[in-house]
Amino acid sequence: MAKIGADLAEAARFLENDIIGIPTETVYGLAANVWRPDLVARIFAIKNRPDFDPLIVHTFSLEEAQKLSKEFPEPLLNLCREFWPGPLTVLVPKSEEIPYLVTSGLSQVALRVPDHPLLLQLLQGCGFPLAAPSANPFGYVSPTTAAHVDKQLGDKIPYILDGGPARVGLESTIAGMEDGRLTIYRLGGLSIEKIQRFAGPVKLVLNQSSNPRAPGMLKSHYSPSIKTILDSNPDGTILAANPFLLRFKEMLYGYPEHLQLVLSPDGDMEEAASRLFGALRQADESGCSMLVAEPVPEHGLGRAINDRLRRAATP
Ligand code: TXA
Ligand code: MG
Repeated sequence: MAKIGADLAEAARFLENDIIGIPTETVYGLAANVWRPDLVARIFAIKNRPDFDPLIVHTFSLEEAQKLSKEFPEPLLNLCREFWPGPLTVLVPKSEEIPYLVTSGLSQVALRVPDHPLLLQLLQGCGFPLAAPSANPFGYVSPTTAAHVDKQLGDKIPYILDGGPARVGLESTIAGMEDGRLTIYRLGGLSIEKIQRFAGPVKLVLNQSSNPRAPGMLKSHYSPSIKTILDSNPDGTILAANPFLLRFKEMLYGYPEHLQLVLSPDGDMEEAASRLFGALRQADESGCSMLVAEPVPEHGLGRAINDRLRRAATP
């Protein structure tokens, strides 16, 4: 078990020679000093993460982020000015200094300024950027509490900085440039609508089956262990198997309440997003043999929620 606490000095001390769990507004991360390839390599080992899956580098300001890039394309710069700190990651040409281990040999680096007060303080105090993927075994649901991290990876790290439950609950939206156009590679905590209101139409490149730019683009990812299907109106044959039901705002009438979880009784998409990954973990612990998830309306964060549910439902 890792020590869980909110002591910034202690977190910074552990980071001198180790990997720790960190809170962000999206999901918890597994963080190491970006300049320490030995520690970065251990992140891959701890997560059982393939080495073709590069890490996001976290800093505390746009100015710091610019130091880590060779060039910051104007459309991405504008996006960062508008939405950082926040659930947005940008792909930019990397500076010479960024180790190729961090970018899996790619010439671009993923950068993000997270919107979490405790983490921003840590980043300001520790003196180096943090390379950090989500703190879950590769392919599994991302953690949104310190307890989630502890449960799966607690025996492999000394410390988890506890910043409370993740406010957003979905991983960051990943943006980059492709053929001179602003392109979204992963739907996430910053909605496409918000991006498009600010930047105009964007290109979506969300699925790739082999050698993906982001493994979050793999058809199957973010999966609970329980067999998952998407169905808003499961019929009697399905219900006869006593599945766990994940519902958007209303229980399924006539089905046992203790086998159902409602994401947001008010139909609030942000609340639904913040509760999604906890709900998938609860389904795993329910003892049921199947999860039947109801897709949510396809707008705002609902698109990212449905994206995660679809990948969870792909075997
Ligand atoms: O919200 C988040 O983004 C969280 C928190 C901890 O910041 N992090 C996160 O990291 O979700 P991870 O490693 O689980 O997902 C990062 C995604 C990966 O799918 C990775 O392939 C992609 O970002 N990525 C990272 N660097 C990249 C690069 N240089 N080129 C293309 N994709 C990259
Ligand atoms: Mg991840």
